[in-house]
Amino acid sequence: MRDKIIKLLHRKRQKFKSYKKTYLCVNFYSLVKIDDIELGDFPILLAPMEDVSDPPFRMLCKKHGADMMYTEFISSEGLIRDAQKSIQKLDIFDYERPIGIQVFGGDEDAMMQSARIIEEANPEVIDINYGCPVKKVVCKMAGAGILQDVDKMVRLTDKVVKSTNKPVTVKTRLGWDDDSKYIVEVAERLQDVGIKAISIHGRTRKQMYKGVADWSLIAEVKNNPRMHIPVFGNGDIDSPQKALEYKNRYGVDGIMIGRATIGFPWIFNQIKAYIKDTTILPEPNLLERIEAIRQHLQASIEWKGERLGLLEMRRHYANYLKGIPNIKPYRTKLVSSLSPDEIDQVLTELIQEAEEKELVLS
Ligand SMILES: Cc1cc2nc3c(=O)[nH]c(=O)nc-3n(C[C@H](O)[C@H](O)[C@H](O)COP(=O)(O)O)c2cc1C
Repeated sequence: MRDKIIKLLHRKRQKFKSYKKTYLCVNFYSLVKIDDIELGDFPILLAPMEDVSDPPFRMLCKKHGADMMYTEFISSEGLIRDAQKSIQKLDIFDYERPIGIQVFGGDEDAMMQSARIIEEANPEVIDINYGCPVKKVVCKMAGAGILQDVDKMVRLTDKVVKSTNKPVTVKTRLGWDDDSKYIVEVAERLQDVGIKAISIHGRTRKQMYKGVADWSLIAEVKNNPRMHIPVFGNGDIDSPQKALEYKNRYGVDGIMIGRATIGFPWIFNQIKAYIKDTTILPEPNLLERIEAIRQHLQASIEWKGERLGLLEMRRHYANYLKGIPNIKPYRTKLVSSLSPDEIDQVLTELIQEAEEKELVLS
């Protein structure tokens, strides 16, 4: 009898050991890495956004859970011309890491030179923009324009990869138009010349931002057995529920979010909590929104100077205050205020009125 029990216990222990092994294996393999940069199990990335994802905005996204962030796109021509506007966009801070600096351009030499300039700024990653649909970029065969000539895209990527020691990643779209959605082949060829991750916006250039992002081709890229680099899905994610649904349905390695983060950096932690165990974090209350505005404004002024900091902050107020009842008069005052003190006063009045009317602050 005793021997039987000992045998049984031994068998159980062996079983537990093998469970443990399997569990560790699963964990090991599910860790997403760009080259040797570890990003956790299922990273939520801040998308590059011109005039939005600057250091003040990134500070808030990082604070609220962004696992990796990208700068707005920077012109390769601007960098090699030493244009002040482009150089300033290279400004990154240690607390933002891991961070990618995004570059665009259609000229191979300019792209190679600019990769070397970016390397000196020391980001974790150099990202090439092959997704910008804007005419003035596209007509130079830069951004999404290069999707019309996949051979050139591969050649240019190869040269950039060879010109730097930093990992190179790519952000692109499904294709130029409905007749050229070659992303599965494109991703494979870009991987072959050495990119370390790819982010795919589920639209074509022709669609610009219209219609609904189609993630089925992003899933095809991910399911291609030849692909071994991380594939990040992008397009239309605007809630924790949608993020989890898309994660499960399309099997991507992580999600990149753009528009839904503007005025709502809380979305990163909301998504992460929901993906972890379907916890729904509370929505930020008015006081938290106002505190975010204050921090964003202060960082903008510190980084851009008072005049530009105030001016460029104007595009953010409506987003931070979306959904607050009777907000219009305050919004109008905020976008016409001429000094930080004036803005502070408007925000204080807003809190006072909310308290008087016993509007929910918590
Ligand atoms: C205001 C704005 C600026 C953008 N600028 C860039 C950019 O500099 N580089 C880039 O690759 N994509 C840029 N994009 C595209 C986004 O990174 C993203 O691919 C697109 O918004 C789709 O994702 P979303 O539905 O989560 O917003 C921009 C988008 C917006 C709305």
